[in-house]
Parts: sequence; structure tokens; C-alpha cells
Amino acid sequence: MNRRPVVTIDGPAGAGKSTISKLLASRLSFFYLDTGALYRAFAYRLKCEGWDGTEQKIADICREMKVSLKNEAGRFRVLVDGEDVSEKIRTEEIGLLASKISAIPLLRKHLLPVQREMAVVGGVVAEGRDMGTVVFPEAEIKFFLDASVGERASRRYLELVEKGQPVILKDIENDLIRRDCQDRERSVAPLTVPTDAVVIDSSDKSVSQVVEIMIAVIERRYPLAKPFSE
Ligand code: DC
Repeated sequence: MNRRPVVTIDGPAGAGKSTISKLLASRLSFFYLDTGALYRAFAYRLKCEGWDGTEQKIADICREMKVSLKNEAGRFRVLVDGEDVSEKIRTEEIGLLASKISAIPLLRKHLLPVQREMAVVGGVVAEGRDMGTVVFPEAEIKFFLDASVGERASRRYLELVEKGQPVILKDIENDLIRRDCQDRERSVAPLTVPTDAVVIDSSDKSVSQVVEIMIAVIERRYPLAKPFSE
């Protein structure tokens, strides 16, 4: 039986990667792998314990902390040493800290095999910043999802308002710009467009339009694999 493909989706914060990756994974019956959640889990632990800014503290957490990602009945769950932190890691503060610590080589090195292990049998939609470039350079299908800063900020704003978080649009936009800079300019595994990726600008597209474009790309390459089976 052919191995099912790995589909990677990279792009900046707020481009719609999570919503789209989840829907795509569900359409294909693939495992949804949100690698940002791993960096967020580390950021969350550092925030809880108080970070002295040292790499030693990160090395200690790498040694001691166990993060697992689960797809349970269509819901994506993040567990840190057995505690469900799925909601707690979704704040702007944790996002910014995750972006900051994701530039630290020892953390990226620690998470590399963790991410690869989760895709070893194929049949995965993996989203992040370095999926198609570093973690899964051999992935069969790669997408880069982009959108204008203004559009990304207003989407994120509406999402947080819906969750009841008190936010200001301009702050969100500034945070996104800062995060973009950190993610694109770090020296290890920066956010870049993989050379063999299909680039989609979602600024003027609905979620379902983007998913349909992706499905069409996948079906063109795997005409006999619809739907994918084990
Ligand atoms: O996708 P996200 O917003 O949940 O990711 C949070 C941060 O984690 C992001 O700003 C940069 C970092 N990250 C990364 O460096 N590499 C990844 N593959 C995924 C996320």
C-alpha cells in the first residue's frame, strides 16, 4: 500500500493556517499536526515557572516536560505533562513568547525529531513556519499561505473578541508585525517560502475557497487517492 502523503502548510501568524489545516486534515482524514502548539506549550511552561531568560532553563524543560498532541473526535488537544492546556496557550502573550523562544537553536533541535515522529507513517497535514523547508523537506505537497497584515490583524481581532478577550485592533496589528519580524529574521529555520510550495494569498478568499484550491492541487497530484485510505 502506498504511504499517504505529508502536506505542509507554512505561513505567517494569522494567515488562516490553523482553520484551513484542520479542515483540510478532516476532509482527507489525515492527522492534523499544529507545530506552533509545541512552541506555545514551552512558552506556557516558561511563563508559569518564571523564565530567567537563560537557555539552561529551556534545556531543563526540554528534558523534563512531555508535550503530546491529540486529535480527539475532531478536536485538537495539547497536553503538557497530562494537563490539557489547549485553550491556555492561545493568548497573544503566549504567541509572542513562543515566537521569541522559537529562535533558540536548542529548542528547535529538541523539537525536530518530535515533529518528524508524528508524521512517520504519512497522512498528516502539518502547519507551522518551517514545515516545508526544514522539518519535512521531502513532503509530497507544500503550501505557503499568506495574507496582508491588515487582513490578518482584523481576523485575529474578531477571533479574540469572540473568545471574550479584551483586545485592541492596533495592538494586534503591532504584535503581528513584531512576530513576523522575529519569525522571518531569526537565523535558524526562519519563515520562508519553500521553493516547491504552492503559494496562496488568502486576503480576498474565504476559508472554503482556500480549502478547495488545496484539495484541487492534491487531487491533481494524487488522482487515484481520493479519498485516501490506510
Ligand atoms: O502558529 P503559531 O502562531 O501557533 O506559532 C507560535 C510561534 O511558534 C510562532 O510565532 C513561531 C513559532 N513556530 C515556529 O517557529 N516554527 C513552527 N514550525 C511553528 C511555530
